[in-house]
Amino acid sequence: MSHLAPVWFKLTDLEVVSGEGCWVTTTSGDRYLDFTSGIAVTSTGHCHPTVVAAIQEQAAKFIHAQVNCYTHTGLGKLGATLAELTPEGIDTFFFANSGAEATEGAVKLAKQATGRQNVIVFAGSFHGRTHLAMAMTTSKTSYRAGHSPLPSGVFVAPFPTSVGLGTQEERIDQCLWGLKHLLLSQTAPAETAAIILEPVLGEGGYEPAPKRFLEGIMEICREHGILFIADEVQCGFGRTGSFFAVEQSGIIPDILVMAKGIASGFPISAIGSTSEIMAKWPTGSHGGTYGGNPIGCAAALATIDVMRAPGFMENVVARGEQLRAGLSKIAVEHPVICDVRGPGLMVAAEFRDPENGSPDGARVAAVLAHCRDEANLLLMNAGTYGNVIRFMPPLVVTEAEMEMALTAVGKAVAATAFSES
Ligand SMILES: Cc1ncc(COP(=O)(O)O)c(C=O)c1O
Repeated sequence: MSHLAPVWFKLTDLEVVSGEGCWVTTTSGDRYLDFTSGIAVTSTGHCHPTVVAAIQEQAAKFIHAQVNCYTHTGLGKLGATLAELTPEGIDTFFFANSGAEATEGAVKLAKQATGRQNVIVFAGSFHGRTHLAMAMTTSKTSYRAGHSPLPSGVFVAPFPTSVGLGTQEERIDQCLWGLKHLLLSQTAPAETAAIILEPVLGEGGYEPAPKRFLEGIMEICREHGILFIADEVQCGFGRTGSFFAVEQSGIIPDILVMAKGIASGFPISAIGSTSEIMAKWPTGSHGGTYGGNPIGCAAALATIDVMRAPGFMENVVARGEQLRAGLSKIAVEHPVICDVRGPGLMVAAEFRDPENGSPDGARVAAVLAHCRDEANLLLMNAGTYGNVIRFMPPLVVTEAEMEMALTAVGKAVAATAFSES
């Protein structure tokens, strides 16, 4: 397409005109079942009527009520609502526009609150594409290559992946040891402002951080006065079957970063923390023209209303179980799928050569193409090797739509079985 930068990676060439629930319609009238949710964003489905009405109503009153110039009612309402939803103690919020802005802002907050300069991230992380966020991103070299020099002060600790050498318990021990070693060998605790982690790695392959690993990290943070930042940009807002993924392991982060699902697609992101930590962020040292936009706040409040309605989270849990059970059945027949994992509707199917265990990104690409071309089902990959299919349908997906997707995936895996013995 002319006049558009080729830097955008394109999953498909589809030109879409409208979306409703789990479906998008193209200019030629074809309908596609959208299991990408626009990269885990449209959790209430495309154009949920409650969200559309809230946006329309707000747009007629105020499109841009700049936060430095005046306050608008949506800000306080969204802050109070998020305080009800987020883990105990997180009661104060800053609003931005994207995930990268929010992760980067969270690190700025941690630096100011601790007076320390370094940050620790984990192998397989994705925190965004601005320079600091890129420096904190280790899931693929393509995100960083050609952009050096990146900001310094970022150190990478190991993450216990679901598939790897030894048992998962051994990998957790090794990774906790690696983190402690990092604090002895590269960034001293007195220099380390924060440890930032996605409770379920997103771009890194839909890898849930095991509970014991999270507890170990928290213990290290508490011992050394290091702040723990949970990046829930992708795994937050109901994606894992609870409002936030950290709830499932009982971890209370010092700083919580939210975006994507927060407003059903309207660009708004948030950094939440305790009022004590937020009070250490000097007034004027951070900000932004558009953060806290009134339409964004209205869209987020409407999204939260939809998610709090009876049955919403129950559907996420039930559809997740249906999805994992269906994928596990396909895996029995096709051992190229070596692992099915992930909470709620943040589900991964990992592909490896059953003979030698090497990652099979080519097979994943073939399965995705088959689903798209033969069954009008849109899916994306993830992981350093591109060998994971990530399932991130809208959280309102029905049992019948899930069955349709599973049938398509089963057929695609069978049809691309050219390399299986
Ligand atoms: C965990 C996580 N953090 C941060 C980001 C960056 O968000 P954005 O693309 O809105 O800048 C992403 C995007 O995929 C993400 O998955």
